[in-house]
Amino acid sequence: MRAFRTCRWSPVGWNPGPEANKLTLEDESNRTPEGAAPAVFSGRLVAMGSTLETELRHRMSEVEERLRKVLADAEHRFVTTGTTHLIEAGGKRVRPRLALLGAQFGDPDRPQVIDAAVITELVHVATLHHDDVMDAAPRRHGVPTANAMWGNNIAVLLGDLLLARAAELAADLGTTSLRLQAATLARLVRGQLLEATRAPRHTDPMVHCIQVMADKSASLIAMAVELGARVADAPEAHARALARYGERLGIAFQISDDVIDICSPAAESGKTPGTDLREGVVTVPVLHALAGDGPGAARLGVILATGAVTDPARVAEALDLLRASPGLDKARADVHRYAESATTELAGLPPTEAREALGALARFVRNRTA
Ligand code: IPE
Ligand code: IPE
Ligand code: MG
Ligand code: MG
Repeated sequence: MRAFRTCRWSPVGWNPGPEANKLTLEDESNRTPEGAAPAVFSGRLVAMGSTLETELRHRMSEVEERLRKVLADAEHRFVTTGTTHLIEAGGKRVRPRLALLGAQFGDPDRPQVIDAAVITELVHVATLHHDDVMDAAPRRHGVPTANAMWGNNIAVLLGDLLLARAAELAADLGTTSLRLQAATLARLVRGQLLEATRAPRHTDPMVHCIQVMADKSASLIAMAVELGARVADAPEAHARALARYGERLGIAFQISDDVIDICSPAAESGKTPGTDLREGVVTVPVLHALAGDGPGAARLGVILATGAVTDPARVAEALDLLRASPGLDKARADVHRYAESATTELAGLPPTEAREALGALARFVRNRTA
């Protein structure tokens, strides 16, 4: 149970630790009745009261307004309820924030910037719908998932509709943005497909797993910050460096999410712990734990040998074994490494407050599971 204690979640929410003055997830007003994780990332990546902080706050409220406008279906209220269900329930809005920060390296006042940010959240929420169907996930953001509420068919269609709305917005941003979005979508789907299949024979399972992380998660995080930069007409070299930053940050973020899936109780993550185990999804901490040589690793290997773990008692046992395994700390070290490597990509960018904020975000991800 040591891992439980070392996860930096407190009963009242995120424990911001030494980064408190720069970054916090605490926002009690957004807590769900079930006491789930704070629903909205209050986003203090920059000092309170600074020009950038005020600007980001205003732009984020424009993003929220536009999101709802794009999804409003006056004729069919259920369609609006369905597509906004997860958006209203919460979400940290990491990707739109990244798009807004990327835009700071060009002209952030360009009107396309808000839509670029909106697109990233629409695509993200679409992938959550599809992912929750694939993972048979009952809860997200502290509420029942769309598949739990309305069944898989509706959940898939809601995800499709979110993607379609994102494509409509992207069409007005020009061919480069549309291509970037299409290429990212291809990677997102490929990542989910590769995750659903075990590593091919003669392929290192960890290499396969990292490829999955990069495609299913990092691609969209990289797209967010790159798209923001491109629609703001930032220099090409900056857009590329930001994309590389996003790619590494995204891998760190996904591994940290997989650690949280193991070590954080539902009341804090807003999701159901062990969802990956139930669906037989192999993640970085699981691979590290299986590679260990103690009796725990051997027992874990037996439990996971058949793929999906359906018996609740076995899921609980596997979670206990994982929490006690040195594999968890190895996964934390991976998070650390990828987050640090994301930060190195910022070195060639102008030393602005936006660059500071991206560094703070990398530290947030690095410390998420510390
Ligand atoms: C969840 O992403 C899916 C992953 C890529 C791990 P977020 O943690 O950003 O999702 P929100 O904040 O709940 O929307
Ligand atoms: C995250 O999938 C990536 C996508 C949604 C495409 P996961 O299954 O790892 O993430 P959570 O834990 O459900 O958010
Ligand atoms: Mg999932
Ligand atoms: Mg999944």
